[in-house]
Amino acid sequence: MSTPHISAKPGDFAETVLMPGDPLRAKYIAENFLEDARQVTDVRNMFGFTGTYNGKPVSIMGSGMGIPSMSIYARELIVSFGVKNLIRIGTCGGISQDIKIRDVIFAQGASTDSNVNRARVRGYDFAAIADFGLLENGVNAARRLGIDAKVGNVFTTDTFYQADGEFYKELDKLGVMAVDMETAGLYGVAAEYGAKAMALFTVSDHVITGEATPPEERQSTFNEMVKIALESI
Ligand code: HPA
Repeated sequence: MSTPHISAKPGDFAETVLMPGDPLRAKYIAENFLEDARQVTDVRNMFGFTGTYNGKPVSIMGSGMGIPSMSIYARELIVSFGVKNLIRIGTCGGISQDIKIRDVIFAQGASTDSNVNRARVRGYDFAAIADFGLLENGVNAARRLGIDAKVGNVFTTDTFYQADGEFYKELDKLGVMAVDMETAGLYGVAAEYGAKAMALFTVSDHVITGEATPPEERQSTFNEMVKIALESI
């Protein structure tokens, strides 16, 4: 049964879906990490693939950028295709001084300047958190691979081009490690529709120091994160 944004049949998606922002990265993962991968949707070129990893069924689908795009795909995957576990694999901007470019970060919780999660609770605060089991499996997989991942609060912004640079310094004081644009939306949608979600990232740039991972190195840090996510399943 197709949805407005996913053209696939029931059973085309595995219960666990890894979601990079970029659909071409979904294709890259399917081609380089999965066995027997087949494309299951291509609406708007937001490609989705299903295959196996170590014999376990897994799907990979792009989320696009920002909470609205992520929320549309996450909701349709859960409600119409029976997806149970959604794992975002993305990039983030470092905020904390303890966070260096190329680090791997797990979002235990996601604060936000978006109103989507408050709208879910009559204007009150909603603590958008990762599913503990997925988080635990992810952190354990990173440890097995010898990767010293950080775990904590991230900030999901609607504004990539943040006009007020001081704001990130205030977030730093509150212990917020990094900034992305999708996680609070993913965690809110998963909570609303009864699925499990978790997000991990590599740090592509640092919003306070201005440091950035050179493009030629991004692929290897990305591969490391994909490996953690797949090994965590
Ligand atoms: N801001 C928001 N999201 C991001 C950034 C950033 O600087 N880098 C990677 N994702």
